[in-house]
Amino acid sequence: MTYELLTFQVTDRIATITVNRPDKLNALNDALMRELSAAIDEAVSRDDVGAVLLTGAGRAFVAGADIAELAGQSAVEGKARAERGQRTFRKFEQSPKPTLAAINGFALGGGCELAMACHLRVASDAAKFGQPEVKLGIVPGYGATQRLPRLVGKGRALQLLLTGEMIDAAEAYRIGLVNRVVAAGELIDAARAMLTTILTQGPLAVAHCIEAVDRGLDLPLDDAIALEASYFGLLSASADKAEGMRAFLDKRPAKFTGQ
Ligand code: COA
Repeated sequence: MTYELLTFQVTDRIATITVNRPDKLNALNDALMRELSAAIDEAVSRDDVGAVLLTGAGRAFVAGADIAELAGQSAVEGKARAERGQRTFRKFEQSPKPTLAAINGFALGGGCELAMACHLRVASDAAKFGQPEVKLGIVPGYGATQRLPRLVGKGRALQLLLTGEMIDAAEAYRIGLVNRVVAAGELIDAARAMLTTILTQGPLAVAHCIEAVDRGLDLPLDDAIALEASYFGLLSASADKAEGMRAFLDKRPAKFTGQ
């Protein structure tokens, strides 16, 4: 697919997807949502990609869904738009390859929701977060009412959802919304470094950790740890497990193949 509202670049096995609609603070219109869906599909399917870094051009990560498009929607269109967006964001969350949001600026509404759908979040110290939907008389539609309490707890999530207030990167870190905060000029290097560390691990192990957390978190504990045990057993049959353990015993770095 040819992208017009984002850029897609692969360097050293990291696909960098840069949302590129800076004049509208990277607001997510339908066309951009279609491109994001295609971009994550491309990253997951390409053999030369092992990880995904998602960021924004200009002073915003993503300042939310495009309010100009939401303004005219009917009830039926609104539900369909939310479901489409949720399916796209779920692709980032269920990707077997790690997805990391490098949050360079405003992450509001759908922008905060998109960051939360990624496995990891690294923020610039200039980033700002919020779920301002109540100010527009709507509820979030791309997952915030569910992912935010899972990440930061019910009380803090409700505070953000009900007040619509923005918080800065330090507060986002304090409440567990982001994994790390770095100086603005170091954002992409720090994000790449985190992904590069993951890329040296066994790819099957990484993919199954992601799946165990994603599927297990909403299961009763007994079912969830049974799922973990089955993955633990499954990976014992992998070449990566044999190589990882042999490399440890030989005191050398492992060379994983993802088999
Ligand atoms: N949808 C559509 N357009 C948006 C947008 C959005 N979510 N967020 C920003 N824009 C547009 C603005 O309309 C403006 O366009 P214009 O230059 O054609 O008028 C441009 O992006 C720059 O935004 P502006 O508001 O002038 O910048 P600012 O620095 O004064 O304020 C924000 C920045 C992020 C505080 C402000 O843009 C904002 O509140 N955006 C909406 C956030 C929101 O409610 N998101 C949830 C949507 S469900």
